[in-house]
Amino acid sequence: MTSLSNKRILLIVSGGIAAYKALDLVRRLRERGASVVPVMTAGAKAFITPLALSSLAGAKVHDELFSLTDEAEMGHIELSRAADLVVIAPATANILAKMASGLADDLASTLLLATDKRTLVAPAMNLRMWLHPATQRNVATLRADGVLFCGPEDGAMACGEFGPGRMSEPLAIVDAIEAALTGDTTLPLPVGIAAAPGTKAPPLAGRRVVVTSGPTHEPIDPVRFIANRSSGKQGHAIAAAAARAGAEVILVSGPVAIPNPQGVTVHPVETAREMLAAVEAALPADIFIAAAAVADWRVSEEATEKLKKTGGGAPVLTLSENPDILATVSRPGARRPALVVGFAAETEHLLDHARAKLARKGCDMIVLNDVGTGTDTFGGDTNEVTLVTASETIPWPRLDKTEIAERLIETLVPRLEAKPS
Ligand code: C5P
Repeated sequence: MTSLSNKRILLIVSGGIAAYKALDLVRRLRERGASVVPVMTAGAKAFITPLALSSLAGAKVHDELFSLTDEAEMGHIELSRAADLVVIAPATANILAKMASGLADDLASTLLLATDKRTLVAPAMNLRMWLHPATQRNVATLRADGVLFCGPEDGAMACGEFGPGRMSEPLAIVDAIEAALTGDTTLPLPVGIAAAPGTKAPPLAGRRVVVTSGPTHEPIDPVRFIANRSSGKQGHAIAAAAARAGAEVILVSGPVAIPNPQGVTVHPVETAREMLAAVEAALPADIFIAAAAVADWRVSEEATEKLKKTGGGAPVLTLSENPDILATVSRPGARRPALVVGFAAETEHLLDHARAKLARKGCDMIVLNDVGTGTDTFGGDTNEVTLVTASETIPWPRLDKTEIAERLIETLVPRLEAKPS
């Protein structure tokens, strides 16, 4: 006997690539003793076949609103009420919108309007569709109506993007179904929805985080510049992770070829001096993370016309030192963020240089990475870092830059909370 023995689940499958996971969900529910009555929308049939779903459910698939045979056997009102729980997995943006506005133009939406049972939805869609204000409005309406949510999760999308919108795994949905049937409604809130009373707010809610990322370009003349190999991947991943943790994030980025992260305000700049001005304009903040590879030098006098070969030898470029953004922001004062984090890309005597940099810049932490030959850190997707503070040296294994970003934010949260406000 399990908690799902003899429970009857009306499972509505709507049209998204995550429909294939609904097949596994059916299997898991039946293993636990539940019976599953499957319903498909027209869109769902573009992704999985009714035959596959009915074979696994051991039951007929319902898909027509005006079916003479179905109405004779069991009308749609009865179908929606004979269940113990109505589950939509995957739930597309479209079906959530229909539910939120009470539309009933096919069997699935009609059942949702006619049911007198609780409804649990497992959304699955592209992250931009999920984060769209229209979808968020619909989700808020549905929550207020008492609809339960399981997910969506953050992750890689079938379309290649990364963020919130992946359907929860079948076993997580099974857990949520068990919880819903035993009256536990404290299921995790969907990403992006304001915390309901009694639930925890995201860790950086109400906090402001400023991040620099990418290289700077220091012009020589109208067509040439001094630059470096920074891709911006690490800085952008950090900005995205801070936004997912609930912070208001300002990302000051040098020229990069990667997309802007979700939920972040981006200020594009070219030179170190522009970057400093944009950072100062973004302060005050709770956390400043300097992940940009700022050029140390700029050409003292940028030529207004393209430099030409004159036959008189190569031109001499005179360089001036750029402002140090990290050191400037770290200076003690009322506007100094509670936590200031710098990066150090070193090729030798790594720890000694990182410790010296921590002291010289006046920041609270240095994220040290080895950029020596063969490390593939610049432009690559992984990084191997050591966190260095005045009292600690914390080496991490080689990880994806997104994983490093997540961990860095997780590490900073308790340190920020420990600071007097
Ligand atoms: O001195 P170095 O360039 O090695 O220091 C690296 C750290 O300092 C990074 O966090 C980088 O973003 C920051 N930095 C800066 N302004 C500069 C140079 C470096 O903010 N002009």
